[in-house]
Amino acid sequence: MIVTIDGVAASGKSSVSSGVARALGVPYVSSGLLYRAATLLGLEAGLDLHGAAKLLAHLQAHPLRLEPLAGGNRVWQGERELTGGLHSTRVDAGVSVVAALPDVRGWVDAQLRALPAPFVAEGRDMGTTVFPQAQAKFYLTASPRIRAQRRASERPEDVPAIEAALVRRDLLDRVQSAPAPDAVVIDTGPLTLDGVIQTVLAQLPQRTPSA
Ligand code: DC
Repeated sequence: MIVTIDGVAASGKSSVSSGVARALGVPYVSSGLLYRAATLLGLEAGLDLHGAAKLLAHLQAHPLRLEPLAGGNRVWQGERELTGGLHSTRVDAGVSVVAALPDVRGWVDAQLRALPAPFVAEGRDMGTTVFPQAQAKFYLTASPRIRAQRRASERPEDVPAIEAALVRRDLLDRVQSAPAPDAVVIDTGPLTLDGVIQTVLAQLPQRTPSA
């Protein structure tokens, strides 16, 4: 079984996906980490991140491996683990450019489709483009203000600045991120993390005994 959980930035996708995957006893797959790893490799190689052909050739010459686990994902390039460097400021700044390149999207999609099911896949286009055949699809939303308030408890910046950054990020991501017609849309605003996880689990077609 494949379950897809897409949604806007800072909607809680990773935490929800991880919680659902744990409850089901399957790994979760963080597609964003592959975009982040592609960005990191491009930066390390000194490539222009807008140049799809060179970046793709570099990715093909230096294969990445996503290791999906229930609690969190790891990314490897051969024996070298890249995971720790994937949320740096420079990767954050470049990843939207890389994620907008159709060639890179095709490369990421192929990596994801090669992974053995069952799993919970988290991202922007899991239910629409990558796994349209998924048995259960979810799309998480929340207002920019609520997402900013949640983030502000993790970071010291004030809510208005984070909210403005999220609105900009939504605009950059909007091409990739839309709910599949058959996705269940969940407004996470009024819910706790566990409330969202339980809402997802309650709507799955077949619950495993551990769920
Ligand atoms: O979820 P995240 O913040 O790790 O995602 C990093 C970037 O990758 C973000 O700009 C959105 C993009 N992304 C995407 O375009 N498609 C996906 N399936 C997952 C992430």
